[in-house]
Amino acid sequence: MKNIVLIGFMGTGKTTIAKALALETGMKYVSTDALIEEREEKPISDIFKYEGEAHFREVERDVVNEVSKSFNQVIDAGGGVVLNEENILNLKQTGIVFCLWASPEEVLGRTKKYTHRPLLNVKDPLAKIKELLEYRRPFYEKADHKIDTEDGNIDEIVKKIKRMMDGRG
Ligand code: S3P
Repeated sequence: MKNIVLIGFMGTGKTTIAKALALETGMKYVSTDALIEEREEKPISDIFKYEGEAHFREVERDVVNEVSKSFNQVIDAGGGVVLNEENILNLKQTGIVFCLWASPEEVLGRTKKYTHRPLLNVKDPLAKIKELLEYRRPFYEKADHKIDTEDGNIDEIVKKIKRMMDGRG
């Protein structure tokens, strides 16, 4: 079975939906962020702080390259994997790529209680979300399918993705 790959901005529901999909399908749940933290032996916020974003992106590229070699996984990809075209090409080799979407206001609501996302630990996170989303929009559009998660019904989203994987759109 081809991988189900979830991409999309921070706070669009990738982790929740990927875990639910893995449970539902029996496929293996894989998080690129967790693999990066394991490899670097520190949380993402510390990688950004001490090694910088460029280093994080290098490790992310290597991790994406490796996970793209196996099948039968639900891949929960970090929100920035799309920035490197090589990552999308690799992920598409063995998987169908779904981009989860939510509005900037909804993203803010879902992310504001957490501090583990260094890119959003800024004075005006809503402005930052809008700026990053605008810049990244053309990258996210490279997904095979776009899924709106604004109203947040996880069961329905899971069913929809499963139907799309079965080619019943
Ligand atoms: C990032 C998203 C994060 C994580 C890192 C950078 C981004 O993952 O990879 O903080 O650039 O959008 P989530 O989308 O799972 O929060």
